[in-house]
Amino acid sequence: MRHAPDIKTPLPGPKAAAIVARDAKSVSTSYTRDYPFVMARGEGAVVEDVDGNVFLDCAAGIAVTGTGHSHPAVVDAIVDQAHKYLHMSGTDFYYEPQVKLAEEMAAIVPIPGPVRSFFGNSGTEANEAAIKLARYNSKRFNIIAFLGSFHGRTLGSLALTSSKFVQRRGFGPMMPGVYHAPYANCYRCPVGLKPDSCQAECLGFVEDQLLIHLVSPDEVAAVVVEPIQGEGGYVVPAPQFHERLRALTRRHGILLIVDEVQSGMGRTGKMFACEHFGLEADIVTVAKGIASGMPLGVTAARADVMTWPPGAHASTFGGNPVSAAAAIATIKILKDGLIRNAEVVGEYFLGRLRGLMDKHAIIGDVRGKGLMIGVELVRDRETKERAVEERNRVVLEMFQRGVLILGAGRNAIRFAPPMVLTRDQADSVVSIFDDALGAVMGKR
Ligand SMILES: Cc1ncc(COP(=O)(O)O)c(C=O)c1O
Repeated sequence: MRHAPDIKTPLPGPKAAAIVARDAKSVSTSYTRDYPFVMARGEGAVVEDVDGNVFLDCAAGIAVTGTGHSHPAVVDAIVDQAHKYLHMSGTDFYYEPQVKLAEEMAAIVPIPGPVRSFFGNSGTEANEAAIKLARYNSKRFNIIAFLGSFHGRTLGSLALTSSKFVQRRGFGPMMPGVYHAPYANCYRCPVGLKPDSCQAECLGFVEDQLLIHLVSPDEVAAVVVEPIQGEGGYVVPAPQFHERLRALTRRHGILLIVDEVQSGMGRTGKMFACEHFGLEADIVTVAKGIASGMPLGVTAARADVMTWPPGAHASTFGGNPVSAAAAIATIKILKDGLIRNAEVVGEYFLGRLRGLMDKHAIIGDVRGKGLMIGVELVRDRETKERAVEERNRVVLEMFQRGVLILGAGRNAIRFAPPMVLTRDQADSVVSIFDDALGAVMGKR
């Protein structure tokens, strides 16, 4: 793969423009494409478009290709498995890759004691399974989720999702029994406190309002939480938020479902973001990075919780042998040093991005763990007025300069590169980000 970035044509180039035009006539109008990147091939943290332009990838297919594009060991595992058999439905038959992956999950998920895993194909399916399991196990039906969260777009998960109204508009009524509470967004503290001295008072809404006025705790099946909010803006809560939430759920016998779909599989410099907070879950949902790009969702749960009977829940493709083989290879690569790279390069990257705050007043906050980094843009550091337009323009300027990034929340940018990113590549991204911010602010 050539040096990145290397942009040779105006963007989009002619081949990309032609494919985008065909897409516009035949593909669902519901997809959000911020810019016309048309993939031809990828390797590590570098991707090439159909016109031969080379980009540094800080989006990783929305935090999926953690091991880098087409990691050779993952590709080998996929090819090897594909030659043996592609499918045999783990719901009705047995095959070893599914069993081995369940064993691997039991060994790595932050759930104490014996663990069982259910397999689906995506993050939303992993959360659907978690919702159903929590209701089945607890014989309760209400669920508490958090504002700004994203848990997926199928109707059960969608009822939990509260990231942007466009994701919900036109699809109601939602699944009943879901209540939303403020998340610990410490940069914009919902109760006006400081993270270094607060007692996670934002959870007072759950304890003193929700569970008093609206719903009896003994009718709450589960609380669903992202340990670090993803689509909502890469928001890192103060540790006391998770401590208090865990204590609260235990006090009321409520199951804690931790959604690690975006934050899991090494991205934050630990296998699961939960581990930064010492948080133990009852159910953990995983997808995205688990199989390096092959479709797979996992709902891992305490074995004494996952006791539903045969037929209660299943999916024909779930735990597909090729995806399972890719996941087993992915976990090995993560353990063999990639998580450490995410931690080390992530810390360096975060420091370099924070360094830009002296130069660019538009940067209000830089936060993150490992290679899950969010930069929030504001028009004024005092008022924290959201720089929404500017954020959108920065994303486009980065693309024109050869870096793929995505927004998160209303006015944040997320840096979620493949975890094989090097320091040199991080330096290139930071200097291009510096230019892009300068270009946008110069034009204001
Ligand atoms: C935290 C979280 N949960 C669930 C999902 C849904 O995953 P999927 O798009 O695979 O259904 C996402 C997707 O962005 C996510 O970030």
